[in-house]
Amino acid sequence: MADVTIKIRESGPYLVKGPVTIADVDGHPYRIEGENVALCRCGQSKSKPFCDGSHRDGFVAIERAPEA
Ligand code: FES
Repeated sequence: MADVTIKIRESGPYLVKGPVTIADVDGHPYRIEGENVALCRCGQSKSKPFCDGSHRDGFVAIERAPEA
């Protein structure tokens, strides 16, 4: 089984390094080119669930994982 990594970009999207399948609410898969995809985290994308760069219009999020 391949590893999947989700990296949170500072004030940006979730970067998913797959391979993964992203399915809509009916279970239909989106067509994804390649193995990497950026998912919107700010809620402003016009092409949800994917990031379209709209987060650059003022979205700020700088969460950090707690240190072990
Ligand atoms: S995170 Fe990029 S448009 Fe929402």
